[in-house]
Amino acid sequence: MKLSPLAVGVVALLPRFATAWGGFGHITVAYVASNFVANSTTAFFQGVLRNDTEDYLAGVATWADSVRYTQWGRFSGPFHFIDAEDNPPHKCGVKLERDCSKQGCIVSAFANYTVRILDGRLPEPEREIAAKFLIHFLGDIHQPLHTEHVARGGNGINVTFGGVKYNLHHVWDVEIPEKIVGGVGKEHPYTEARQWADSLTEEIRSGKFKASSQSWRKGIKFSNPELTSLGWANETNSYVCTTVLPLGPEAIVNQELGTSYYEKAAPVVEAQIAKAGYRLAAWLDLIASKINNQMAGDL
Ligand SMILES: *[C@@H]1O[C@H](CO)[C@@H](O)[C@H](O)[C@H]1NC(C)=O
Ligand SMILES: *[C@@H]1O[C@H](CO)[C@@H](O)[C@H](O)[C@H]1NC(C)=O
Ligand SMILES: *[C@@H]1O[C@H](CO)[C@@H](O)[C@H](O)[C@H]1NC(C)=O
Ligand SMILES: *[C@@H]1O[C@H](CO)[C@@H](O)[C@H](O)[C@H]1NC(C)=O
Ligand SMILES: *[C@@H]1O[C@H](CO)[C@@H](O)[C@H](O)[C@H]1NC(C)=O
Repeated sequence: MKLSPLAVGVVALLPRFATAWGGFGHITVAYVASNFVANSTTAFFQGVLRNDTEDYLAGVATWADSVRYTQWGRFSGPFHFIDAEDNPPHKCGVKLERDCSKQGCIVSAFANYTVRILDGRLPEPEREIAAKFLIHFLGDIHQPLHTEHVARGGNGINVTFGGVKYNLHHVWDVEIPEKIVGGVGKEHPYTEARQWADSLTEEIRSGKFKASSQSWRKGIKFSNPELTSLGWANETNSYVCTTVLPLGPEAIVNQELGTSYYEKAAPVVEAQIAKAGYRLAAWLDLIASKINNQMAGDL
């Protein structure tokens, strides 16, 4: 579809309303996860999501963004982030009591939907919703600006990137990931996402992430989803001080981010996407094996 000039104007306004890693990042995370899950996990989630293709996770990775501005899904808006009231670049860190709003946050939502998918008394459509939220939120929790209160996660900071005006949140959600792979077709991000995911998978199995990925699953405590996701959020948030706002927010307002900013940000984005996919696989494995064991016990 060719966008009319009017439609382009409308689209340009959208990044204000955080779209979260953009579709491309989320779909890549999902494909990385599908490369690492156990076969029994694939079978389980293909059943929950009623999709027996290899795209069963990727196809629902952006669903949560598609409902958050609808009347039905409005309650889930606060679930996409946790706004750490820290002070970058001097002090970073997420504190649950201080930072999780009364309406909920990504940490409480992650815990809630883990409990719900494990709850065999809930109707199947509710457990399918829980699966779709978990797949999406595990991606968001790895985007530094989804763990930061400054200017609403950078949505209120205008910058230019490659000479084009965006807000900072959008640059991290969309522009940096897409630049890493040399651009993404707007209509078919699935092909590019699959390729990027396969190359990240190779890096985890036998390349530059082989050593660091050993530590990525430490700190996972299935009996405590809140503590687990808080640990991830806190780790992600540390990049706000080191890489997103290394000189503080004022230093980049209305400035061109430039090549040296991109060159420091791109490796962080790449590692965060790989990490999110690898951890998502671990979490889905834990869910599927718990439910499969319960069912075996019931026989
Ligand atoms: C898992 O599934 C793949 C593809 O269907 C198959 O090649 C592989 O042998 C299976 N692995 C195990 C351990 O069953
Ligand atoms: C499975 O998901 C993919 C990706 O969204 C979609 O193209 C395909 O039609 C789905 N298949 C089924 C059987 O729902
Ligand atoms: C848990 O999920 C249900 C169903 O989506 C939702 O209604 C409820 O508000 C959530 N609770 C929390 C604490 O996130
Ligand atoms: C950012 O730019 C938009 C227009 O692109 C403008 O509406 C908005 O007021 C600007 N925000 C700030 C904080 O300057
Ligand atoms: C968050 O990370 C900091 C170090 O960056 C650490 O001191 C703190 O204990 C962590 N907090 C949580 C809740 O994991």
